[in-house]
Amino acid sequence: MATYTEITEEIQRLKAEKNAVILAHNYQIPEVQDLADYVGDSLGLSQIAGRTEAEMIVFCGVHFMAETAAIISPDKKVLIPDPEAGCSLADSITVEQLREWKRQHPDAVVVSYVNTTAAIKAESDYCCTSTNAVKVVQAIPEDREILFLPDMFLGAYISEVTGRKLYIWPGECHVHAAIRPEEIVEMRRAHPTADMLIHPECGCVTSCMYLTTDDSVGLGETYIYSTEGMIKHVNRSPRDEFLIATEVGILHRMQKEAPGKTFYPINREAICQYMKMITPEKVLRSLREEVFEVRVDEAIASKARRAIDRMLAIV
Ligand code: 13P
Ligand code: SF4
Repeated sequence: MATYTEITEEIQRLKAEKNAVILAHNYQIPEVQDLADYVGDSLGLSQIAGRTEAEMIVFCGVHFMAETAAIISPDKKVLIPDPEAGCSLADSITVEQLREWKRQHPDAVVVSYVNTTAAIKAESDYCCTSTNAVKVVQAIPEDREILFLPDMFLGAYISEVTGRKLYIWPGECHVHAAIRPEEIVEMRRAHPTADMLIHPECGCVTSCMYLTTDDSVGLGETYIYSTEGMIKHVNRSPRDEFLIATEVGILHRMQKEAPGKTFYPINREAICQYMKMITPEKVLRSLREEVFEVRVDEAIASKARRAIDRMLAIV
């Protein structure tokens, strides 16, 4: 069996030969993050996919993310090392359900979180990520009804921040929904001076929002961020302890980029098994055999592109 070094050397050789780039989400296993050219969040990776000169993109993330890259870059070959890497949140709404919802609100603007299939994006007016969701909603005229899907916790959070009434689809990510307010309270008590970073998909996010206004001198503060927002915060913050409420794969990058700091996951079991399906061996096979190509039907892609372009324009 080949060693990790042998696998990565062969990956580098094939990458150069095929003019390929490897993108990895912040929740990927450490070995995959370490061999990637770029590690980032949904928005950042979409932006890189859009501007890369490479002819081939190996997307180490879940299927909807690779689909987004394929929609943005129709002239490039987009590969996912394991096509079974799905997303419970993206699966929480079907196109038929969305069409029926739109029939009930014919004048509404549809805003879809990026964790959706290409077919759902094609039925949407705007796409957004956790980085720009608030700005996307703020860009919609006050008098328009908004259907927000599929994450109910992110939807409730945006509604609170913007003061807008949203119709919210009751979908959730099983990993983030399991991060409960009680765990936050317990960890906050145990580490009072740590900054707390919460992903807006978390089940605790709306009940924890009041914590973001807590400015008690000397105590840690609470922030709600996308995964990339969390990385930026730990790098620039003068604090040395952080409580992290998201999927635990992100700790690898934090420890690597801020080795002198300490990170406590709120829930050590917050593991996305879909993200962990990608391995260095599968990345190598993907490059060598050019599998598994992610293609989106052009009729769907061109409609989805509109919603994604609007998302990329608001950052
Ligand atoms: P980010 O865009 O914040 O990386 O989130 C993507 C995701 O799937 C979170 O579960
Ligand atoms: Fe989907 Fe949740 Fe995994 Fe993110 S963590 S990819 S939302 S299942």
